[in-house]
Amino acid sequence: MNELTIRRRADDDLPGCVAALATVQAADRYPVDWPEDPAGWLTPRELVEAWVVVDGAEVLGHLVLARPEEELAAAVGEPAERLIAVARLFVGTGARRRGVAVKLLDQAVERAAARGLGPVLEVEAGATAAVRLYERAGWQYAGSFEGEWTTADGRTALLRAYVAPAR
Ligand SMILES: CC(C)(COP(=O)(O)OP(=O)(O)OC[C@H]1O[C@@H](n2cnc3c(N)ncnc32)[C@H](O)[C@@H]1OP(=O)(O)O)[C@@H](O)C(=O)NCCC(=O)NCCS
Repeated sequence: MNELTIRRRADDDLPGCVAALATVQAADRYPVDWPEDPAGWLTPRELVEAWVVVDGAEVLGHLVLARPEEELAAAVGEPAERLIAVARLFVGTGARRRGVAVKLLDQAVERAAARGLGPVLEVEAGATAAVRLYERAGWQYAGSFEGEWTTADGRTALLRAYVAPAR
């Protein structure tokens, strides 16, 4: 097994990110529907930084840090300006259970600290692997709120808000 390398996402990583996302969408319905513009979906308006874990030229995992939406800030009870959200986190199906997501999350927490912001995230209640990942990594559940979309199994999304463990 090769060494995992984490680095900032470059523009020419986007095709590799989209290829990894395609494996994730097919396996996990994340996101629920394949976006019309997947590279655009990986680059939301609120994006602050984007990171990838690679093995040579292959993108294994991806995450962005983004300005949080008001609902998420409200769920954790802090002003949005003091927070930064982990989003668009996924690991390609061929690279799972090798600590790729943990590496991305650790980096997110470090980058948030460098910016003086509190790391937060939201996860749909049915995304059990992700919920396990965050809880195992010590993230604290802060409350839930309804999303404006429907899950693959036909429920109104229920978003669980988390804050990172204190450093
Ligand atoms: C959730 C996800 C990012 C995890 O990626 P990963 O690189 O495989 O995770 P890691 O190897 O870093 O796992 C760390 C720990 O998380 C937990 N975990 C990860 N995947 C799990 C699974 N399928 N079932 C139960 N626990 C899991 C385990 O505790 C694991 O430690 P272990 O392997 O020593 O048991 C990946 O499964 C994924 O991309 N899922 C679909 C997209 C998604 O849900 N993204 C999150 C949106 S909020």
